[in-house]
Amino acid sequence: MVQTHEKTATSPVNIAVIKYWGKRDTDLILPTNSSISVTLSKEHLQSKTTIRASPLFEKTRLWLNGIEEINLINNKRIQNCLRETKLLRKDYEEKLGKEIGMDNVLSLSTYNLHICSENNFPTAAGLASSASGFACLVYTLSQLYELPVSATELSKIARQGSGSACRSLFGGFVSWQMGSKRDGSDSQALQIASSDHWPELEALICVISDAKKGTSSTEGMQSTVKTSTLLQHRIDNVVPERMKLMTDSILRKDFSKFAELTMKDSNQFHACCLDTFPPIFYLNDTSRAIISVITEYNDKSGECKAAYTFDAGPNAVIYALKQNIPEIINLIFKFFPPSRENLTFFSDPFKLFSDRKIGNLPLPANFNENIIPIFPNDSVKQIIHTCVGNGPRVKNDESLLNSDGFPKNLKK
Ligand code: DP6
Repeated sequence: MVQTHEKTATSPVNIAVIKYWGKRDTDLILPTNSSISVTLSKEHLQSKTTIRASPLFEKTRLWLNGIEEINLINNKRIQNCLRETKLLRKDYEEKLGKEIGMDNVLSLSTYNLHICSENNFPTAAGLASSASGFACLVYTLSQLYELPVSATELSKIARQGSGSACRSLFGGFVSWQMGSKRDGSDSQALQIASSDHWPELEALICVISDAKKGTSSTEGMQSTVKTSTLLQHRIDNVVPERMKLMTDSILRKDFSKFAELTMKDSNQFHACCLDTFPPIFYLNDTSRAIISVITEYNDKSGECKAAYTFDAGPNAVIYALKQNIPEIINLIFKFFPPSRENLTFFSDPFKLFSDRKIGNLPLPANFNENIIPIFPNDSVKQIIHTCVGNGPRVKNDESLLNSDGFPKNLKK
């Protein structure tokens, strides 16, 4: 009987608080600045990947969300991740061969693979699905190949799938050191603090649009590199200092400083998009209204209680301390109400509103209710409440492949 070898693992989403925007090498995916992110709990947002290796598979194949088979021939980024991980396995096999004899080593590096990957959140929601997806691909393969390498080593491979993916190899608070070497060997992710370092910190994702984005981050950032003088100023004069201040605010659990830096960095990233020629707009009216509401909330609270941040799309991510989350959900609900039919608006995973209704909490004293109009129903489609979480994990009892090695949920 031919033996098959399989591993399943899950990986988290990360949301940057110091943004990565710009590449100095587009093939190796080397950034023009370092960045910092927070890893979110896999409980609410995750990618899951099963990889099986078999000498019987005719070619390597990959299915996404049980629907779409991806054409790997044209996908350089996936090819790069598969090649680099296989090379590590080949080295490992040679090393093992020297110790125990080549005949006793399983030549997994020569087998074709069947890969199935799923997200538990809509890929089209504009959430960072490529980061968790590529991190999961590389991590699952490293487990299948039993590679004796660190998460930082793996981050250099995941980076070649999608830059931000390198930060999803760790839980908690993560930095991506841009590095300076031309071969990218020092452009890697490192953990600043683990997921249990600051348990009071939580996040609200406000899903504003589930439409596919206009300008992808890959295209957008290179257009900014070519045309924006503000980006050069950011790279030279702003990010290096901010990296230090942000790391320090995380280690000291100083929410007020963390919030100020997070909002300023999101603002500057979107300013660089506007400074791109022709300009790139990721924020829409709802995004900007959320900025106004949070600004007024912080102002009238007399302290920074919430921090907004936006990636390459209109969705807002709001970081806040646990005790202020109900008040913030209440605010969003008030200004961006859901329609009656919208049953998925807020699922309340932490049971915050079991005995009270959202929308009934008082606003902070002197809150200017005219700061923005009440928006049309479902301008914010969904609020996902989540917390800081761990890095990738093996889940062998949750295979996505059937006994023949095809996706269990394949929709024909
Ligand atoms: C705005 O990692 O998606 O989310 O490296 O081209 O795949 P590629 O880009 P990607 O860019 C993410 C940009 C961002 C900021 C961030 O996550 O740091």
